[in-house]
Amino acid sequence: MKYVLSLGVLVLAGAVMMHAQTQKPAQSAAPRPVTSDRTTAAPRFTAAGELIRPTDFREWSFVTAGLGMTYNQPTSAARTPNFTNVWVNPSSHQAFVKTGQWPDKTMLILEIRASSSEGSINKGGHFQTNLVVIEAAVKDEARFPGKWAYFDFGRDMKPQVQALPVTERCYACHSENGAVDNTFVQFYPTLLEVAERMGTLRPSYTSTPAAH
Ligand code: HEC
Repeated sequence: MKYVLSLGVLVLAGAVMMHAQTQKPAQSAAPRPVTSDRTTAAPRFTAAGELIRPTDFREWSFVTAGLGMTYNQPTSAARTPNFTNVWVNPSSHQAFVKTGQWPDKTMLILEIRASSSEGSINKGGHFQTNLVVIEAAVKDEARFPGKWAYFDFGRDMKPQVQALPVTERCYACHSENGAVDNTFVQFYPTLLEVAERMGTLRPSYTSTPAAH
């Protein structure tokens, strides 16, 4: 009886050990696949055609930071200036540096941030503070009749949005005043140099966009 019992215990212990062994975390001999949503190549859309806000645009190619730019008559001179930070998806940036033109599936992000001049050790000038809004421009010839479409993710950083209607002022101002293919390359110093060298600036571009 005693023997049978201890045999039973032994079998049980063996089963537990085997179980413990199978439960060991799998030894991963193969390297884990690189999972990243880094949007280097193409803007992503939902099935309903909404543009998905890229979460990693701060890792894209940085284009410029405008300060206090205004396209209306300068009535708002007393306001604290906003910064306008512009990024572009890296593969399109590389293409532009080579050709002076934007390939299809280019996406640019405009981040507007408030500024302050008072804080910490600062004695003059402005530094960036709260997020005001995130907007986007996407070039997709098959998807949009006018090639480019404009998006507003809002202050609340919506995860996905439909393109703004073509009657929005974005379309007219960008297509009439942008120096290269709807974009304001005239204000992006490193890209302006490329466009000048490649001869891709719109012949009629002026450095002062039309007031409206
Ligand atoms: C009156 C002219 C005007 C209007 C209207 C306008 N923009 Fe712009 N936009 C500009 C200028 C000028 C810049 C360059 C900003 C800078 O240098 O910081 C710019 C830059 C941008 C950029 C960065 C890429 C690029 O095209 O150069 C995006 C994205 C953008 N705007 C989106 C929008 C959206 C979305 C709207 C409409 C809701 C809009 N814009 C309305 C003048 C305009």
